[in-house]
Amino acid sequence: MLKDNYGRRFYYLRLSVTDICNFRCNYCLPDGYQCGESIAREKPLSVAEVNTVVRAFASLGTEKVRFTGGEPSLRKDLVQLIETAVNVDGIRRVAITTNGYRLASQIDAWQRAGLDQLNVSVDSLDPQRFRAITGHDKLANVLRGIDRALELGVSTKVNSVLLREHNLAGFEQFLDWVKVTPVSLRFIELMRTGDNRDFFASNHVAGRDIEKWLLHTGWELLPRGRDAGPAKEYTHPDYIGRIGLIMPYSRDFCAGCNRLRMSAQGALHLCLFAEAGIDLRSAIASGDHRDLAALIRSAVCGKSAGHQLDRGFTGATRNLAMLGG
Ligand code: GTP
Ligand code: 5AD
Ligand code: SF4
Repeated sequence: MLKDNYGRRFYYLRLSVTDICNFRCNYCLPDGYQCGESIAREKPLSVAEVNTVVRAFASLGTEKVRFTGGEPSLRKDLVQLIETAVNVDGIRRVAITTNGYRLASQIDAWQRAGLDQLNVSVDSLDPQRFRAITGHDKLANVLRGIDRALELGVSTKVNSVLLREHNLAGFEQFLDWVKVTPVSLRFIELMRTGDNRDFFASNHVAGRDIEKWLLHTGWELLPRGRDAGPAKEYTHPDYIGRIGLIMPYSRDFCAGCNRLRMSAQGALHLCLFAEAGIDLRSAIASGDHRDLAALIRSAVCGKSAGHQLDRGFTGATRNLAMLGG
């Protein structure tokens, strides 16, 4: 079992499969993906390399793998990536985080490949606001994809980044939706990154204000599972769905960290806001998952106690598309 110097255990790998994204979310990639300045001049990990990475992590006790991006569905071989992770001994859950662009057309294939969990970004339920935030007029399409995932019985979470100037006015609309839709809707506190400092200053909303409101209106906190994500989840007897809050600025957020990350080029990132990743590409390319596992085990000892976002340090993270959040 992977354990760091602070006694935290890591059951969960977030594996970016591309840093390319086709959306231009105003808090992440407002000008879109810039090919010229790609950190991805090197090819992303192949299916065989992903298999080696997942085997190495599984041998160290990892049970859950989440594919992230950029936008993972831009990979034409995403179905094979899912299959390869599903078939590794010890992996019990395979998940994807997507902007939903290809969800409606792909979810059947992803489910057949063995996908267990799906997270989809929906930053507004108002089509115009959705377009203003993401740069794409695709809300109806994304919602169709979510409906299909629910029809297929895929466990589905929805992410909505709280933005003072762009979607806070739509909070009631989200609540109405959760009343009748069996998803976990997680409001995420906007995180400061290298690229979004001014945007952060005008748009950050503290999750604890929403938390206070939930607790005053009959929502109840659920206990947190061992491989749960960072969200605190709440239920209400009148609502089919749940509400989650992801509050990276709250006091003990990093104490519950249970995940490690790998970039699309094979660098191990011990924290979303670390200074730099640890390049493991050559060990990955050699295909020996035992050697790779030994490198990962020793690297984890260097994981720091937590990020220092509240003090304005964002590490080397210019935007979350670089590493999949
Ligand atoms: P599950 O709960 O397992 O479904 O995953 P998740 O909520 O971690 O996944 P998702 O990819 O949907 O991420 C939701 C938000 O949580 C994104 O904004 C991530 O950047 C953020 N997040 C996830 N893990 C961490 C973390 O370790 N640190 C920080 N600061 N943010 C995180
Ligand atoms: N702060 C908070 N969440 C962010 N995401 C992307 N950038 C940020 C940020 N700066 C979210 C996306 C997606 C998830 C992977 O991360 O909206 O739902
Ligand atoms: Fe938006 Fe996610 Fe793409 Fe960033 S990586 S632009 S948050 S869809």
